[in-house]
Amino acid sequence: MNERGELLIVPDQATLADEAARRFVALAQAAISAKGRFSVALSGGSTPRATYERLAQPPYHDQIDWSNVHVFWGDERYVPLDDPESSFRMAREALLRHVPIPAANIYPMPTVGGTPEAAAGAYAATITAFFDAEQPRFDLILLGIGPDGHTASLFPGAPELTTPSGDMVVVVRDAPKPPPTRLSFTLPLINAAANVLFLITGADKAATLREVLRGPLEPARLPAQGVQPAQGKLLWLVDMAAAREL
Ligand code: 6PG
Repeated sequence: MNERGELLIVPDQATLADEAARRFVALAQAAISAKGRFSVALSGGSTPRATYERLAQPPYHDQIDWSNVHVFWGDERYVPLDDPESSFRMAREALLRHVPIPAANIYPMPTVGGTPEAAAGAYAATITAFFDAEQPRFDLILLGIGPDGHTASLFPGAPELTTPSGDMVVVVRDAPKPPPTRLSFTLPLINAAANVLFLITGADKAATLREVLRGPLEPARLPAQGVQPAQGKLLWLVDMAAAREL
């Protein structure tokens, strides 16, 4: 544990999915018994799929009171919710359609029928209404990183990193990872979370992970470095392939 968070290295992707599911369950149980509900923001990308699939199956599936789980997304591709690129669609297929979570507890980012700017504003309003507090604080935010150091849809050089907008959710255009238009939580919202969990696997992430965790702090170039929860816990859950340069 240091100021960049706790690091847990596991042997492989399958172990990582089990460990992440176990931690998801523990945080959900703790939040529900403390205050009656659990709020989580999911990540996109391919890495979390195995974790979502684990959560949809025993033993994890039966260890969560899904009626008190509230699911948001930390970023989303600006495509229809049934598009193959949609992070909502991935989570629905891997997890949400397999568990007894009420539809009203699922909060996809709006991606059709208006402008991305209106969607970002609407999602921020949804978050504000849900938390009914000056500073919304998710119980858990899941994140990944890209080989360029991005996290959520905050890519290197994004204006948001150098001149923060003050908004909770922003529009991202011309993203280097397709699709180009996206919506993303900003760092202040991420850093207000009670728990942030990065899921990172694969050798193609190894060099970036070394830079993010061991290199000089340059969050405008390596946005994942900007994730530093003010009063929350930060855990990097990493497989051995991704950790091999640490
Ligand atoms: C997305 C994500 C993005 C992702 C990382 C890691 O829309 O793809 O929000 O931040 O988490 O790029 O993606 P992989 O898990 O596919 O490597």
